[in-house]
This record gives sequence, C-alpha cells and structure tokens, in this order.
Amino acid sequence: MLQMTKDRLSSEVLKVVFPLLDGKDLASCMCVSRQWRDIASDDYLWKCICAKRWPSMCKKPSPPMVSYFKLYQTFSKRHPHRTLLPPRLSFHDLEFYMDLWSEENLLFSEVVPGTTLQTGIKHLPPGVCDVLRYHLEGPDYKMTMPINPRISVPVSQAVNVSMFVRRKDTNKIACIVNRSLFDYIDASAFRAHAFDYLNFAPVYPFVSGIRAWVSLLFIKDGNDQVMDVFGLEMDFCDAATSKEEVLWLLDMLDWK
Ligand SMILES: *[C@@H]1O[C@H](CO)[C@@H](O)[C@H](O)[C@H]1NC(C)=O
Ligand SMILES: *[C@@H]1O[C@H](CO)[C@@H](O)[C@H](O)[C@H]1NC(C)=O
Repeated sequence: MLQMTKDRLSSEVLKVVFPLLDGKDLASCMCVSRQWRDIASDDYLWKCICAKRWPSMCKKPSPPMVSYFKLYQTFSKRHPHRTLLPPRLSFHDLEFYMDLWSEENLLFSEVVPGTTLQTGIKHLPPGVCDVLRYHLEGPDYKMTMPINPRISVPVSQAVNVSMFVRRKDTNKIACIVNRSLFDYIDASAFRAHAFDYLNFAPVYPFVSGIRAWVSLLFIKDGNDQVMDVFGLEMDFCDAATSKEEVLWLLDMLDWK
C-alpha cells in the first residue's frame, strides 16, 4: 500500500518534471526504469520537443514519422561514422598499370596486382628516414608497393607518372593519374608527390575535385641530388581514408 502511494506520487512528480527537460535528458530518463520509460515515452512530450526544433513538422495532426519520438531520435543526432556498405570491388579484382617517365626515358613500368598495394611494403630497407618510417608504419590506411630494384632519379629531372587501373570482373580500364609531374619534394619526409584529379562516371555529376596522389618514397643516403626510390605510395586522402572508401571511390571512376 505504501509502495503504491510512493509510486503514484513519483509518477505525478515525473509528469511535472519531464515536460521541462530537453530531448537529450528525456532520452536518458528513459533508461532509468520501466516506470520512467513509460512516462517519458508519452509522444506528447516528444511532440513538444520536436515543435521547438522543427515547428512546421508539428503542424499536422499526426507525426510525419511513426512517432515524434522516432522523428527526434532519427534527426537530432549526427551520424559521423556511418558504416559503408561493403564495396562491390575488391583489390583482387584490380590491376594497376604504372609508368614513370623522366623526360623521354622510361624509368619504371609495371603491371601491379591490386593485392600488392594491399600488402604494401613489408620490410622497409635500411636508410629510411625516421619521419618516413613513422608515416609508413603508422596505423592509418595506406597503399604502398616496393620498387625493386630501386631506381635513382636526379632531383633536377622532371619525372612524371601515369597510372591506369583495370578491373578483371568487367575488363574495363580507368585512368587514375595522367602524366602528372612529381613537382613537390618533401625533403623532410623523403617523398616526392604528384597528383591528378579523378574522372568519375557521368552518373556521378556532382563529384569532382578529388585527387589521386602518387608519391615516390626514397632513401636518405647523403646525396641530396639523387632520389634513391624504393617504393611508391598511392593516396586519395581528399575523399577516402580506409580500404572500403578507396574501393568505393575506384568503383565510381569513369570505367571505359
Ligand atoms: C611525361 O611523360 C611523357 C610520356 O607519357 C613524356 O613524353 C614527357 O616528356 C614527360 N614529361 C616530362 C616533363 O617529363
Ligand atoms: C592525358 O593528358 C593528355 C595531355 O597531357 C591528353 O591529351 C590525354 O587525352 C589525357 N589522357 C587521358 C586518359 O585523360
């Protein structure tokens, strides 16, 4: 008997207090107990909360979704880490065509399986500077491949890179980088960078301005006139920083 009175009393109190709360606090109250949840899930409370934020959505007699609570739950939060659907492509389906030129001379030319980029450079050769080692061994997602044997490139020479990618499932090819010059040398990290803007399929007309970066990774060997290149790195850091994002991005290219 005493218990019932106490419950009834506190219900009365909750019904007075809950309308004063904002959505975040009211949602927390729903986790306290079954009684609190029953009272806090009164959709009228949620209608009042929604009406403060989106008055027009509360103009109609019934909520625009299943309930005002659902409306609040769905649109009050941001979803910054939305998980992507699994990509339709995999690195096993891909093959990269890389050509490095120094003026008219071919420096390096190779067909690189996608899985090579996925595996990356397993063992860094001696002489890799700390900044670059730190970058390559860091936890961030990256695509790298060894260049074996290493190639020597005089810093004074203009070097450019072309990279195409073929997907084996459809046998189509897309251009990633078209004769871009390595015109920026980061002497502290022993990298030289080239970039090009990606071309996307016409079904994605609003996607633009996303760059593909290719970097030469070189060794610190005391001769700052020559880059002793032991690897390549590819990067789409404007838009894709995980394997899934990279595969989605590649899937959107203008495949021919
Ligand atoms: C860039 O590569 C092309 C070959 O695709 C070559 O003919 C051209 O001379 C290169 N340009 C520079 C500046 O290295
Ligand atoms: C690459 O660039 C050259 C001009 O430097 C252009 O003529 C050619 O069409 C481009 N190729 C692709 C595949 O975009």
